Amino acid sequence: ATANIGVVGLAVMGSNLARNLASREGNTVSIFNRSYEKTQTLLDEHPEAEFVPASTYAEFAASLTTPRTAIIMVQAGKGTDAVIDALTEVFEPGDIIVDGGNALFTDTIRREKAVRETGINFVGAGISGGEEGALNGPSIMPGGSDESWVTLGPILKSIAAVAEGEPCVTHVGHDGAGHFVKMVHNGIEYADMQLIGEAYDLIRRGTGKSPAEIADIFSEWNRGELESYLIEITAEVLRQVDAETGEPLVDVILDQAGAKGTGAWTVQTALDLGIPVSGIAEAVFARSLSSKPAQRAAASDLPGPSEAWTVADADKDAFVEDVRRALYASKIVAYSQGFDEIVAGAEQYGWDIKKGDIAAIWRGGCIIRARFLNRITEAYAADPGLVALLTAPYFAEALTGTQEAWRRVVVVAAQAGIPSPAFSSSLAYYDGLRADRLPAALIQGQRDFFGAHTYKRVDKDGTFHTLWSGDRTEIESAGSGH
Ligand code: 6PG
Repeated sequence: ATANIGVVGLAVMGSNLARNLASREGNTVSIFNRSYEKTQTLLDEHPEAEFVPASTYAEFAASLTTPRTAIIMVQAGKGTDAVIDALTEVFEPGDIIVDGGNALFTDTIRREKAVRETGINFVGAGISGGEEGALNGPSIMPGGSDESWVTLGPILKSIAAVAEGEPCVTHVGHDGAGHFVKMVHNGIEYADMQLIGEAYDLIRRGTGKSPAEIADIFSEWNRGELESYLIEITAEVLRQVDAETGEPLVDVILDQAGAKGTGAWTVQTALDLGIPVSGIAEAVFARSLSSKPAQRAAASDLPGPSEAWTVADADKDAFVEDVRRALYASKIVAYSQGFDEIVAGAEQYGWDIKKGDIAAIWRGGCIIRARFLNRITEAYAADPGLVALLTAPYFAEALTGTQEAWRRVVVVAAQAGIPSPAFSSSLAYYDGLRADRLPAALIQGQRDFFGAHTYKRVDKDGTFHTLWSGDRTEIESAGSGH
């Protein structure tokens, strides 16, 4: 046995990860794919990588030094279970099986428990950064046991992206913690993309600027506090011209957004945990809405605002700056909501997740990498018990500087009939959190009226019920008030 690490599944992500591993000092990489063809292709195309190819699971296991460590890079779902079963047959106690796919964290919890019975370690690791990241340095979010981290840590550190001298990988927490955090990463990714989409749409329809001109705006934004991978690639996409028609590519792409499920998982999980991730939810729903052509066609004749909306030439720069601020503010909300979900998940599942470390490993390699993640790490370092990220001094100040612009943008979008669900729901969330009094009091009254669900009072302890169908006096009740 000569290989210290193996990769199972040699589609693009697996191949790139294997090449990344092989290119780092100290690694010898064993490779295996269900059909040998892909293995041969990888060998042929990358002779420089010095892979150790295996054609059976037994050969694969024999090629690995102990503790054997293998990263599975197959499409999430049933395929993953099949590979895990095959590996547990040929691996021994103490060995490590890593699932690097986008698995649902509850599947990871289940698999970890089952594999643990055999004495083998199972690690669910979120890997972000797409094909390019897998090859040159992704952000990696591994869960699993402390024991597995001892062997796996140095290997993952060798291939992860580096941000300010630190590898973008940390042991997130036990069992499904890594995939949970990757799931929330993707939820934030959805929100970020939707917000950027809304910003583009408002600027385009309000100012009449071309996609190429808007690309320049995004490039400029990318030099400021919004600096991020997603802003950067947005400019690239907007600048792209379709070879066939000569039109901006964005105008010939069908406007129906796909989704592979991680955004929906983030929202489903948040609903179960009772965490309002409204910006992320709107982003998921906006994709669903876009992908309903029949409903959209049926509704296309419904009336919009009676007056057409354009931004006067003299106001265009100010409008663009307003949109930039609305985007920044909404982005802060999306991250704040995402971190709330991580905190709630950690509590629910008993994970010791260091929020500042998560922000730190998202600074490089991953799809949501952004300049302001440093500020998140700092915020949690300054106050580990921070109850809401958007209340940390840096973000509170940013919101103070943006909220007026944010309101103007949401108002104008509503008046112009331009959908901005993520902008507006983020603003509603912000106003909801900071409100002195919420109409939740009325809801409690309604609940008490029709179901005797009881309520609490602002002025004294206890749980109360009004005798609505009687003489409407209030009685103290033994219930919980919720
Ligand atoms: C990443 C990405 C990656 C995946 C997207 C696409 O972090 O590298 O998130 O995992 O390509 O999640 O997801 P959708 O197809 O659902 O947009």
